[in-house]
Amino acid sequence: MINNKKKPTRLRASATIRALVRENVLTMDDFIYPLFAVEGTEIRKEIPSMKEQYHLSVDMLSEEIAMLKSKGIRAVLVFGEPKQKDDEGSGAFFEDGIVQRAVREIKGTYPDMFVATDVCLCQYKSDGHCCFFSDKGYIDHTKTLDALNKVAVSHAKAGADMVAPSDMMDGRVGSIRHSLDAAGFDYVSIMAYSAKYASNLYGPFREAVHSAPAFGDRKAYQMDFSTSKEALREMRLDIEEGADIIMVKPAGAYLDIIRLGHERFDVPMAAYQVSGEYSMLYNAVKDGVLNKMAIYESLMAIKRSGANIIITYFAKQIQELLGEAK
Ligand code: PBG
Ligand code: ZN
Repeated sequence: MINNKKKPTRLRASATIRALVRENVLTMDDFIYPLFAVEGTEIRKEIPSMKEQYHLSVDMLSEEIAMLKSKGIRAVLVFGEPKQKDDEGSGAFFEDGIVQRAVREIKGTYPDMFVATDVCLCQYKSDGHCCFFSDKGYIDHTKTLDALNKVAVSHAKAGADMVAPSDMMDGRVGSIRHSLDAAGFDYVSIMAYSAKYASNLYGPFREAVHSAPAFGDRKAYQMDFSTSKEALREMRLDIEEGADIIMVKPAGAYLDIIRLGHERFDVPMAAYQVSGEYSMLYNAVKDGVLNKMAIYESLMAIKRSGANIIITYFAKQIQELLGEAK
């Protein structure tokens, strides 16, 4: 006989007691869904590297948003694939650029859909890099921040509620905050990709928007994945510079980083379940290797670690998963 009054299984004996002691819940309020806007008309084309994710032309967006709303989604993160790329990445800040048009379309039709935009240059520059380099091969921060400021302000002008710089340049949050304020957009918030690692899990996304670097890699600006204190420094700097929300990216393999940031700082934390995480899980479920509640589990783990905002390509399926969670 086990003589032990401490019996943790008592609190697991029924669905009701499990629900009563549950520490975290997922709701549709937690999620942001990434969208990929492309030039052209009548395009709703599945992205080969990301199943059930679509390239959407601007004219198809309101229909898409209506569908997303019906699935409980309240916030989107807009990415763009421009008609053409150039050395200056100018498609990123044209008034009639793809993201700017997409934002105007979405906010024009559904003002209550919260619209965040990805602020970076890599999709728009011929070399696929998030920054400009000097002749010596170092990052040219002055030129890069100049361009990023223009991108952020152009998104705000188009009606974005929030801008999300994903470039990992030094000082960009402060610089963007200053530019937004100077242009009268002090009410537009900044969600900083603060701890963005040089991860191997971005592959499907780079295929989707053709943004793989033409030479080298992103290790000179994205973080080395052996580090965690560096993530805290990046988060602290971004908060000091005015970030409203800080983000960790990727999410699933970086729960320790989310937890560190959650314990240390008092701003909301976001986590980005990236394209590689999505594809791995999606394929495992499709092949019957895992059941679909593995998706729910991956999201709950992200929330439990301390993220209160989760950016995920699974957002369309979550309402259904929540209904089945016990
Ligand atoms: C661009 C950007 C990337 C992602 C978001 N913004 C790719 C990269 O940094 O190479 C990745 C998103 C994903 O993999 O889902 N700076
Ligand atoms: Zn980039």
